[in-house]
Amino acid sequence: KTTVRKIFEAQEKYLDKDVQISGWMRTIRSSKSFGFIELNDGTFFKNIQIVFDESLENFKEITKYQISSAITVQGELKETPEAQQPFEIRAKMIKLEGSSAHDYPLQKKRHSFEYLRTIAHLRPRSNTFYAVFRVRSLAAYAIHKFFQERGFVYVHTPIITGSDAEGAGEMFHVTTLDMENVPLNDEGKVDYSKDFFGRETNLTVSGQLEAEAFALAFRNVYTFGPTFRAENSNTGRHAAEFWMIEPEIAFADLFDATKLAEDMMKYVINYVMENAKEEMEFFNSFIDKELLERLNHVASSKFEYITYTEAIEILKKSKETFQYPVEWGLDLQTEHERYITEKVIKKPVFIIDYPKEIKAFYMRLNDDGKTVAASDMLVPGIGEIIGGSQREERPDILENRMEELKLDKDTYWWYNELRKFGGVKHAGYGLGFERAIMYITGMSNIRDVIPFPRTVKSAEF
Ligand code: 4AD
Ligand code: MG
Repeated sequence: KTTVRKIFEAQEKYLDKDVQISGWMRTIRSSKSFGFIELNDGTFFKNIQIVFDESLENFKEITKYQISSAITVQGELKETPEAQQPFEIRAKMIKLEGSSAHDYPLQKKRHSFEYLRTIAHLRPRSNTFYAVFRVRSLAAYAIHKFFQERGFVYVHTPIITGSDAEGAGEMFHVTTLDMENVPLNDEGKVDYSKDFFGRETNLTVSGQLEAEAFALAFRNVYTFGPTFRAENSNTGRHAAEFWMIEPEIAFADLFDATKLAEDMMKYVINYVMENAKEEMEFFNSFIDKELLERLNHVASSKFEYITYTEAIEILKKSKETFQYPVEWGLDLQTEHERYITEKVIKKPVFIIDYPKEIKAFYMRLNDDGKTVAASDMLVPGIGEIIGGSQREERPDILENRMEELKLDKDTYWWYNELRKFGGVKHAGYGLGFERAIMYITGMSNIRDVIPFPRTVKSAEF
């Protein structure tokens, strides 16, 4: 027994020998006396061609197998110099392992991504999604490899929490209270002391706060896990459940973090280009003709930096008509981000020093008293894929800020204590994993890079 990957990677070893493969039929065509099957065994992007003929006792039956049937094939691997594929298996035995019905929805034609989303349980068998999800797996591995090689400690931060790290109020509540009969306290509010945890809780929007606690013990740490946001944004780049990579580094400032982000992006891009050649060539041919050229360029060029204030000036001077207003103090919208990274800078860019009002409470206040040491990384085609900052390590300034924003002391007491006991300068960032996959594959909708997407009004699978 072998695999299609092994055969493609070391064909000399297998040529003119008997091999045995189990997989799913992607196509089948046959005439009276012979037929062809393209088989995918799950180990490799490319299919292997099987030739079978009437010398097989079950020849007639085989011609009736529907596509997507699972079979085991035994036969000799033969070179086919004139054909499209480099070799084929001349079958001596074909055994049905699992039949498929005639109404299998993935026929050999192009299906729209919209349609394929409605069959999320079958779409990993289509070329595009097969490629996306292998790249997703490799990119996840590359991220771990990058951080582990640099001595970072991987922290599993909690999924259920009482805090709202980003302060945006976009949480999914977690409760065991009976919704039909919610207990109320004296003030007529929901009595969470009766809830499972004895307090109000939600799914995490970010593992950052807990990662900070670990950075102050291990120095360099990262989390990589699911995060949840009840953002009512029905766009191609927002999901309610997405994965985030959040490194946190101690004795480090904003630029140590952006440097780390740049190195990490290049590392992951290079790793995927080297280890998913077939998939990346497929994306380059069918999804985005400039993908490989662009990624190669990104992997070898230095990322740019501009301040938020400069970004606002650029946008104000531009002749572009934007849907949303541009004004110092207002947040940048996707259209602004894309204009800057696509039309002006033309490569990944960090925008730094945002007004404190539009950023989270934990970001370090700059000397101007108006901006914070934040950095968003924008890339062409998507806009923001990383959000990061240097954290406020000065206890008094942090507490003032938390009071201004009326954050609950009982929830964040431990976060403040980190400043009291050996608190040092530290920084970190969050990379949206799905946005990174979109960037690497050229796919334009977040629903098409996550196996079973959860977005507004949609969680069918
Ligand atoms: O900019 P954000 O909100 O930053 C944080 O959560 C920080 N705690 C990170 C940190 O400093 N440790 O989110 C970080 C990234 C964004 O740049 C974006 O790529 C992604 O997470 N992201 C989303 N991806 C998909 N769907 C959503 N709804 C997302 N919201 C954020
Ligand atoms: Mg952000």
